[in-house]
Amino acid sequence: MKGPFITISAMAGPFTHAPGSVSEPATVAEPRIVREMRLSDIRELIRVKPLELDPTSRRLSACHDIADLRAAGRRLIPRPVFDYVDGGADEELSLRANTQAFREFRFQPRTLVDVSKPDTSTVLLGSAVPHPLVLAPTGYTRMMHPGGEIAAARAAQRHGLPYTLSTMATTTIETVAERSQPDLWFQLYIMRDGGLTKELVERAAAAKYRVLVVTVDCFVTGHRTRDRRNGLVIPPELTVRTLASIAGKPGYWIRMLRNPVIDFANFAGRDAVTIEGTGQLFNPAITWDDIADLRALWPGRLVIKGPLGPADAAQAVSVGADGVQLSNHGGRQLDRTVPSVNTIAAVRETVGPDVSVLVDSGIRHGSDIAVALALGADACAVGRAYLYGLMAGGEAGVNKALDILTAQFKRTMQLLGVGSVTELRDAGRELLVEARDPRSR
Ligand code: FNR
Repeated sequence: MKGPFITISAMAGPFTHAPGSVSEPATVAEPRIVREMRLSDIRELIRVKPLELDPTSRRLSACHDIADLRAAGRRLIPRPVFDYVDGGADEELSLRANTQAFREFRFQPRTLVDVSKPDTSTVLLGSAVPHPLVLAPTGYTRMMHPGGEIAAARAAQRHGLPYTLSTMATTTIETVAERSQPDLWFQLYIMRDGGLTKELVERAAAAKYRVLVVTVDCFVTGHRTRDRRNGLVIPPELTVRTLASIAGKPGYWIRMLRNPVIDFANFAGRDAVTIEGTGQLFNPAITWDDIADLRALWPGRLVIKGPLGPADAAQAVSVGADGVQLSNHGGRQLDRTVPSVNTIAAVRETVGPDVSVLVDSGIRHGSDIAVALALGADACAVGRAYLYGLMAGGEAGVNKALDILTAQFKRTMQLLGVGSVTELRDAGRELLVEARDPRSR
């Protein structure tokens, strides 16, 4: 046996030698042995991890799931901004129920199936994607990191996934299309100003966005209790609380100072100062007839984001939508809504196999995507999961979030014993047991 092995096992003395054969107590032997150890000896035993000098890479390399990215983001970002992303409406009952609802399903896997070449790809609204995953629209994205929408869109592009730009983006429709080339979708809030709504749709069409996602659960802004308590305003007001935040998170503020001021880039000059105030821009008088008008205006695929059951999903199809995105806005609008995952099966049964059914709200793990697909969804969209990555490390952080989710989804498929997304969807409910079912205990 070579030197270093003997050295280390001698250090462990009492555990590796027969009782009574240890001549020196370990506490006496250790300092001498440690002095004798050379780096080259240790190298033979232990693979030395190269030191990561870049702080962002170092931080991200310590993140192994979305919860780690959330924790890293929380450490770096001022509380009001973190809470804006992390929080929900009112008592946050929907926010909590969303993540819990996915966890109410247990898998009943198949075994001894060849899963050596898992095919995670699928076709979504007429386009091939490597994973059934979409980046959901999120407003004010540059507030979380100066990379903002472009960072998220580039990470989506790197993974071959669609990116949905929000009406409330802090980068314009045109700039995102110039500086990144993912499968671009545009999310529309229907505004009180009908001319502005039409202009946004026409700009998205001109910039070659492929899918229009019309959000229908936000005509009145939800009561985001944390934002109210934190007094979140854009741009930030100089208050005692802001000063405390500057002192506590100087890195964030230095980054912000070095970058252009945050605004609602798609309609600059019409800013609503508080996040709460943005609701005044939206038209609460909209009905399904207006969606039919939009259908006539938009040349591409149309998705209605926000139905939470078969009746509204059927309405969406009847006015010409190609798909629905089942969503309760991540628990940020009407509190106490049903979790969207619990509406998938009934919606699928109602709309039939040809309508695209996406689902968001509460997805934090690749296995959540598997649950949604087994229940009948075509794909999932994530909001916070990638925003935690953005807060933790800009574009690299979003990449990390997407790496995590796609690897988790692939591994889940393999361990479930399904070789492709089609197989997963065909097997469907056979793979799931509800947690309250006695079989899952
Ligand atoms: C959102 N969401 C959202 N939706 C939308 O249609 N337009 C928007 O501008 C925004 N803005 C926004 C900001 C932030 C910070 C969050 C977290 C969410 C809702 C989003 O598209 C999606 O429905 C939810 O994020 C899905 O829930 P999870 O994945 O965050 O749990």
